[in-house]
Amino acid sequence: MGFPSWLGDAVFYEIYPQSFYDTNGDGIGDLPGVLAKLDYIQSLGATAIWLNPCFESPFQDAGYDISDFYKIAPRYGTNDDMKTLCREVHARGMKIVLDLVAGHTSIEHPWFKDACKGPGTKYSNYYIWTNGWGSPQGDYRFISGYGPRDGYYMINFFYCQPALNYGFLDPDPRPGFEWQLPVDHPDVQRVREELKNIMKFWLDLGCDGFRVDMASSLVRGNRAAEGIRDLWQYYRHWLDAEYPEAVLISEWSQPTQAVPAGFHIDFMVHFGQAGYNGLFRAEPERLGNGACPDFKRSFFDRCGLGDASEFFRNLTGNLKVTDGLGYVAVPTGNHDMGRIRAGRTLEELRAAYAFILLLPGVPFIYYGDEIGMNNVYGLGNKEGSYNRSAARTPMQWAPGAQGGFSSASPEQFYLPLDPAIDRPDVETQEKDPGSLLHFTRRMIALRHAHAALRSDGGFREVFCEIGRSPVVYERFCDGESFIVAVNPAGKSSSAQFALPNADRYRPVEVSQGTELKVLPGVVELTLPACGFAIYQREA
Ligand code: NOJ
Repeated sequence: MGFPSWLGDAVFYEIYPQSFYDTNGDGIGDLPGVLAKLDYIQSLGATAIWLNPCFESPFQDAGYDISDFYKIAPRYGTNDDMKTLCREVHARGMKIVLDLVAGHTSIEHPWFKDACKGPGTKYSNYYIWTNGWGSPQGDYRFISGYGPRDGYYMINFFYCQPALNYGFLDPDPRPGFEWQLPVDHPDVQRVREELKNIMKFWLDLGCDGFRVDMASSLVRGNRAAEGIRDLWQYYRHWLDAEYPEAVLISEWSQPTQAVPAGFHIDFMVHFGQAGYNGLFRAEPERLGNGACPDFKRSFFDRCGLGDASEFFRNLTGNLKVTDGLGYVAVPTGNHDMGRIRAGRTLEELRAAYAFILLLPGVPFIYYGDEIGMNNVYGLGNKEGSYNRSAARTPMQWAPGAQGGFSSASPEQFYLPLDPAIDRPDVETQEKDPGSLLHFTRRMIALRHAHAALRSDGGFREVFCEIGRSPVVYERFCDGESFIVAVNPAGKSSSAQFALPNADRYRPVEVSQGTELKVLPGVVELTLPACGFAIYQREA
């Protein structure tokens, strides 16, 4: 299999286009706005952008409900704007990845409108409809009573997101389930090819790959997992042959399944494998739309009651399975989760960012996390966001009523700006070398500067005890070694561990009050409250 050469040193920046930068004064961010901020994105050290969906849509789920896969939504610009953006991204040596909503369309999509007319139309099998509204459904989510067609249609998420038909690997043989088409049915094969055509269109226009929405939800049936793997292998073989530098990133949250299925990168996020939630989003008020019953407090919390051991266990397991095949991504956040800032000071975020940005695999920074943007609660629903509005507010470029986001009056903004008096902003943090923005840049620069810290560098858990702070890991490669230690707890804490050549380690960046004592056979590392430390071994 091929492999995009640029992933070994990739750092992604996720942009929610509605809220990034508005250039035409309508209160909604747009593609020329992303273009205008490319120098800024590059200045962070980001090498790639992931843009949330920006295609034509009735926006019942913020654009994850597409009505034309081949057209940029007018509120963001035109296909030509996208072409220009891709060109300018490339001119800076960067990459841009689009969101591929593979599993469903909007109810406004012409395919669905045609399918609603009944069986036997051109696109009637593009979606999964039962035969008649009294027919058995099995364990799926269906909507009935919509349009003239007699039957239920399967959905992927909201009622307005009918699932595309990638078939059943093992259709239910019982009477009444004839609507379950096999994966080799000609209409199912057509859907498969439609997705390929969509990918081809945007790759030819200039993008560098896709983040695939709900990547594990396509093929159905008892043996769905096998079917989904076969499907992605099929696309991956095609990409390897035709677009070997293009990346496939999955929203799956099971890297041990997604990467062997053909994805280059899979996230650890707020669903799927647990562990990630335990780091930053264990408290119910910090969650996005996921439930997290397993933890009472986040590990990155000054109460010091959280636990990072499940995260470490999962990460280590994921790295083992994905080694040489692809990467795990631990993001600072995304458009579906509460902001990492919630409940933490800007100072406390440093330990979190040192921890995340120096991990193996590929880091993703959600827009605004680099300055510590906060959740804004109580905003209600915006285009299907519900509680996710909290993390989707306009980027804070500057102080002032419009926050440097738009020239529109603030009431016209897609979502309101964070009303906090002390809300962070880029302009202010640029002027302060001690700001979180500059710290984030330093962490990314450190990563780029050392093979040990990049995607493929080695990883070893050095110290992690259940329910205890600090935790320590090592990154290494070809004689280089770094120790990364964090103590998110609000009181100082120490750990003893073996560290070969301990006397050769020098601090790169450490919180004030950190101490590394070399004792016979072990070292004792003491970190201050909410502190972190990065040490590098001298050659
Ligand atoms: C996952 C996306 O990240 C989310 O924003 C969206 O609502 C659902 N998939 C449905 O497409």
